Amino acid sequence: SSVRSCSAVAFVYRGTFVHSTPQTPLQILEDALLGVDTRGKIAFIDKGGELQDLSQTFGFSPSKVIQLEDHEFFMPGMVDTHIHASQYSYAGTALDMPLLQWLNTYTFPVESRFKDLQFAHNVYTQVVKRTLRNGTTTACYFATIHTDSSLLLGRIAHDFGQRALVGKVCMDRNSSVKHYKETSQESENETYRFIKELLNQKYPLVKPVVTPRFAPSCSEALLTQLGAIAKNNNLHIQSHISENTEEVKLVKELFPDSESYTDVYHKSNLLTEKTVMAHGCHLSDKELVLFRETGTSLSHCPNSNFSLCSGVLNVRNVLNHKVKCGLGTDVAGGYSSSMLDAVRKALDASKVLTIQNPEHNTLTFEEVFRLATLGGSQALSLDDHTGNFEVGKDFDALRVNVAAPGGPIDLIQSDRPKNLLEKFLNLGDDRNIMEVFVAGRKGDPNSTQGS
Ligand code: GUN
Ligand code: FE
Repeated sequence: SSVRSCSAVAFVYRGTFVHSTPQTPLQILEDALLGVDTRGKIAFIDKGGELQDLSQTFGFSPSKVIQLEDHEFFMPGMVDTHIHASQYSYAGTALDMPLLQWLNTYTFPVESRFKDLQFAHNVYTQVVKRTLRNGTTTACYFATIHTDSSLLLGRIAHDFGQRALVGKVCMDRNSSVKHYKETSQESENETYRFIKELLNQKYPLVKPVVTPRFAPSCSEALLTQLGAIAKNNNLHIQSHISENTEEVKLVKELFPDSESYTDVYHKSNLLTEKTVMAHGCHLSDKELVLFRETGTSLSHCPNSNFSLCSGVLNVRNVLNHKVKCGLGTDVAGGYSSSMLDAVRKALDASKVLTIQNPEHNTLTFEEVFRLATLGGSQALSLDDHTGNFEVGKDFDALRVNVAAPGGPIDLIQSDRPKNLLEKFLNLGDDRNIMEVFVAGRKGDPNSTQGS
C-alpha cells in the first residue's frame, strides 16, 4: 500500500523484506520497494509495484534505488527490552549463584564503580557499540544509582544513534555494599534531576525511564514516590518481578499487607501502559490478569533465567493472557548481549516446557521473531515509531546477508526467504548484519562520536 509522504524520498531499497504485524508473526514481501524519506521515516513499501509509477508519485529518481544481493533481506531492528548497561563489564562471568546471592556478591560491588565517570564512559561506549553491531536498534537500559553516569549513557546512545530508554536505578535498602544505596529522599531527588537533565538534552531517540530496581531494594515510601513521579510526568517505568522463588518469598516477608508481588507494584501506581517488568517466571494467572488490566508488559529474559537457574517463563500462557511481551538479554544475568541469543534461548525455553508437558503449545520461530521486533516495541510502548515496516514509522532495520563471506552460515541450496530468516535466527551473528539503520540513519561502527 503506497501512501503519499510529505517529505522527500532520501533512498529506496528493492528486494526481500520480512517483518511482523499484529495479525501475522511473519510477513514476507519479495521483490518489494521500500522508500525512506529525509526524516528517516518509511515513505512507502510496495510489493510488485511499478518503479516508474512510484518514482513519479513520490518524486524520486529511479537511480536512488539500491538492489539487495542474492541471500539478502531486510528485517526490523531488534528491541532489547531489558539490559543492564553497567553489568556489561562482567558479562560472561559470575553465573554460579542464584539471584539474591549473585546481586550481593557480584552485581552491587561492580555497579558501585560507576560513580567513576571514566569507567562508566568506557563500559557504556562498549555496550552501545556492541549491541548496535549485533542488531539491537532499540535498548531499554538499567544504568546504576549514579545520576551523572546514567546521563552519560543517554548521551552515548544518542551519539551512536541507538534508540534507547535509560533508567537511573533507585534503591534505598538491602544493599550488600555500604555506599551503593541512597536514602529515599536522595533517590527521589536524583530521579527528578535525571529526568529533567535528560529531557533537556532533547535527544530525539532517547527517553528517561523511572527505575525502581525491584521491591526488595526499595522501601514502600520510595516505590510510592516513584509511581507519582512517573504518573505526573507520563514516563516509562521498568523493574523486575517474580524472577526467582527466594525473591518471591522475600517480597512476601517485606510486604506482608500485599496480596502478591504484582500487588506491591500496583499499590504504588507502578503498573501502567508504559511499564515493563523483567522475568515474571513465577507469576500466577491472577497476577497476569492484573498485568493485562493495567497494560503492563513483560520482558522475557531466557538466557538469564537459565544462567541464574531462576525459572522457565511460560510465554504461551503470557500471550494467552494478552499481556504485551518482548525479549531481553538481561546482561549480565544473561551472558550474551545479542538478541539473536535471546531468540534462541526463548525457543529453547519453550521446548523445555514441551519436554515437560507434550501438550504445551511450543512457540514457533515466527512468533519468537515477532517477540524480538514488534513485540518488544509494543512492550516498550514505542510501536507507533518502530517495530515493523509500516508506512510512517521510523526505518529501524537490519540488512542481513545470510551468505556473508567469512560468516557462520554455509548455504548448501538456494533457500526461500522464510528458510533464510530461520537460518539467520538460529545460526547467524553480526557478520551477517551488513547495515544497521535507526530512524533512517546508518550506524557507523567506526564512529568517532561518543568519545
Ligand atoms: N533483580 C534486581 N536486580 C537485578 C539485576 O540486576 N539483575 C537481575 N537479573 N535481576 C535483578
Ligand atoms: Fe535485570
